[in-house]
Amino acid sequence: MKERTKVTLITGCSSGIGYELMRLFDRPGYHVVATALPSSYKALIDDPATRSERISVRALDIADYKSASTLVDEIHDSIGPIDLLINNAGISYRSTVEDMTIDDEQRQMQVNYLGPMHLIRCCLPSMRQRRSGHIINVSSVGGMMAMPTMASYSASKFALEGASESLWYELKPWKIKVTLVRPGFINSLAFTKVLYSKKREQGLASPEYEQHYRNMTRFVETIMKRALATSEDVAQRIFRISQKKRPPLRAAGTIDAFLFYYLRRILPRFLYHKLLYCSLPGVKRWGPGK
Ligand SMILES: NC(=O)c1ccc[n+]([C@@H]2O[C@H](COP(=O)([O-])OP(=O)(O)OC[C@H]3O[C@@H](n4cnc5c(N)ncnc54)[C@H](OP(=O)(O)O)[C@@H]3O)[C@@H](O)[C@H]2O)c1
Repeated sequence: MKERTKVTLITGCSSGIGYELMRLFDRPGYHVVATALPSSYKALIDDPATRSERISVRALDIADYKSASTLVDEIHDSIGPIDLLINNAGISYRSTVEDMTIDDEQRQMQVNYLGPMHLIRCCLPSMRQRRSGHIINVSSVGGMMAMPTMASYSASKFALEGASESLWYELKPWKIKVTLVRPGFINSLAFTKVLYSKKREQGLASPEYEQHYRNMTRFVETIMKRALATSEDVAQRIFRISQKKRPPLRAAGTIDAFLFYYLRRILPRFLYHKLLYCSLPGVKRWGPGK
């Protein structure tokens, strides 16, 4: 029997992992619906990579829940029911907890957690009816271990991880698969898109945290520039996972993610936190000093 074309909805395709995923799934047997923020939509539709007849580009702000519902209905009617949903779009705040505002916290959660959850809810009735489907949520090493100045980002990915674990149990009776992919550090320009809290942008952030920001920013940028893994590598990993008959609930997206996972599992918790704290760059100069 000829297999039906798999309708694959991927969010955040204007750059990075999403862009590479869109290109990878552009192959016989798939129809990709690649979404981009309304502000990036034109650039994506003008990109030669999206000229393929197997790619449809749509504008979507994942935090606009009503538009997300409308989009899923439109895809269902004009292309077909969604077989594979890849929640890839994400943003990352670099801020201490004290410098975040409620608006910043909400934005972080809307894009990385509430939006993806809403999109899942939109896709589920049809997936359950067909007793098939695969949901892949792009998490992060930050969804397993938290770092200073990244509390809100980690909280959003921890939330995504918790909900995906529940979903895995809930959807098993319908044979719908759920996978979390955790990339570690990627050699990409994603660090240039880091967001700062409103307080910091308005110059109202607490100066006491200056060393936290300075050292963490330098540290993350250096590691990302030196990282061996690329967005394309992570996209390939996700593609391979999507091909598996029995995909895992959790999968490392890069080698360092795999190593961090074992480090956290093997070391006693008190030792792990102590070691991590001592390895933070310039940590002796953080805060009030000695
Ligand atoms: N890069 C890393 O080192 C790393 C590590 C671990 C996990 N991850 C995760 O991997 C995923 C992809 O990240 P990436 O590295 O490919 O970063 P990226 O290049 O910044 O891609 C993120 C994508 O999400 C889109 N986006 C942002 N806000 C959105 C919204 N409200 N609605 C819809 N789309 C939105 C962006 O659109 P615009 O370009 O228009 O802003 C962009 O296309 C994210 O979930 C991220 O948390 C990345």
